[in-house]
Parts: sequence; C-alpha cells; structure tokens
Amino acid sequence: MDKKDTFNPIIGSLTNDDSSAAMAQKIVRFFKENSLAEMKESLEKLKSLMSCYQCALLEVETKFRVLNEQFSLQHERNPIEMIKTRIKSPESIQEKLVRRSLPMNINSIESEIYDIAGIRVICSFIDDIYMLADCLLSQDDITLIARKDYIKNPKENGYRSLHLVVEVPIFLQNEKRLMKVEVQLRTIAMEFWANLEHKLRYKKNLPDDILSLTASELSQCADMSAELDIKMQNVKNIIEKM
Ligand code: GTP
Ligand code: MG
Repeated sequence: MDKKDTFNPIIGSLTNDDSSAAMAQKIVRFFKENSLAEMKESLEKLKSLMSCYQCALLEVETKFRVLNEQFSLQHERNPIEMIKTRIKSPESIQEKLVRRSLPMNINSIESEIYDIAGIRVICSFIDDIYMLADCLLSQDDITLIARKDYIKNPKENGYRSLHLVVEVPIFLQNEKRLMKVEVQLRTIAMEFWANLEHKLRYKKNLPDDILSLTASELSQCADMSAELDIKMQNVKNIIEKM
C-alpha cells in the first residue's frame, strides 16, 4: 500500500475481534511505521478531494436549477420538485472499499467509486425525468460514464429511478479537474417508495416467511405507485393537448 496515499489504514486494520492489547500493538506499530507528516499529508489530500466533489455537486446542481428556471419560463411549470445532494461519508467510502476488496487509498477512491458525490432530482412527471436527463447529457462539458434505467427495467424489489454517472469539469485556481457525480432522477412517487423501503430494510433479524411476504407486498406497492405515475402522466398529456 502506498503510504502517501493511505488515509486511515490504522482504523481499517482494526477488527472487532481484536483484543485491546492487539489493538494497542497495531496502533504502536502503525505509529512506528508512519510519520505524523505522512499522515497529515494523506488527510490533506483526502480533504481536498472531498472539496472537489463538493464543487462538482455545485456545478451539476446549478445545471439542473438553470434548466428548471428556463423550463418554467417557457411552460409555466417547474419540472423539478426538489433537489437533494450529498457527499458519501468516510465510513461508507471505507465500507465500499472493503466490500469490493479495493486498496484503501486516494487513487482507488477517485478511480473506482462513482457515487462519492450524489445528486437526486425529484421530478413531477416521468417525461420530465427523460427530458432533464437528455438536456444534461447534451451539454458539451458533460460526459456520460454510466446509465442505468431502473424505470424501464425496475429492480426485482420494485425500485425505480434513472441513474446516471457523469463526469463534469471543475475549474480551480490553477487547474481543471474532471469529477464523477452520480445523478438519480425519479418522480415523487418513486422517491416515496424508495425512502420507505430503505427505512424498512434496516429492520434486521426478520424471519424468512415475513421477509418474503413483505418483499412481495413492497413490490406490489412499487407497481401501484408506478401505475399512479403513468396515470398522472396521462392526465397531463390530455390537458396539454387541449
Ligand atoms: P451501491 O454500491 O449501493 O452504490 O450500488 P450500485 O453501485 O450497484 O449502484 P445502483 O445504481 O444499483 O444503486 C445506487 C443507489 O441507488 C443506492 O445507493 C441507493 O441510493 C439507490 N438504490 C438502488 N437500489 C435501491 C433499492 O432497492 N432501494 C432503495 N431504497 N434505493 C436503492
Ligand atoms: Mg451508492
């Protein structure tokens, strides 16, 4: 592991099974092997990377706000109900690196994890999702890295949303950097279902029969809310044709 790129190898090396003596030994060994200056340098690099992701989020959020503003001028309605942004927590980054057996360093964070910066755009109608995605992707400073359409192909549990990973440039004092941002576009109904499903998933230790019953109930709820989205879209289409 490259010492200069390592951000928290000491925490990463400790396990729940370590006795306190084993933990103390690991910590002492770590401090013998790594100078304080190297640790500080790694932390500074991590802080600077996270700040770049924050800037990338600002860029992408502004793009959506501009589209919303322009659309509302032309059509007298806002296609965006709400925008939420978040930077992945250090704990979640560490958990993802471990889960995917990736090295715990800055390079692997930047090149392998695509959802450090996340923006969720909650739209009024299904058509707005595709219209906004097309508008974003047609901008000449945006590069599409990955696209998953969980609206046309819902996940088995019923989850629906359009996911994009895009690369956007940020302009710093002396350099231009390309940063990855995960964009999730969904309707209010999709957001409602995803939020409640996420909350329920955290109820652990449920017996298998309850799990399969609730999975089937949840998937039916997803189908019902998808039907609601389609009905609302149809009503909108009828009104707009008048
Ligand atoms: P992660 O490792 O979780 O990032 O998954 P992935 O790399 O396979 O990406 P995917 O595009 O499938 O999902 C990324 C994100 O979409 C998750 O972090 C959630 O925010 C959301 N998501 C995906 N599937 C579900 C789901 O079944 N339920 C809910 N509530 N959210 C989901
Ligand atoms: Mg994720």
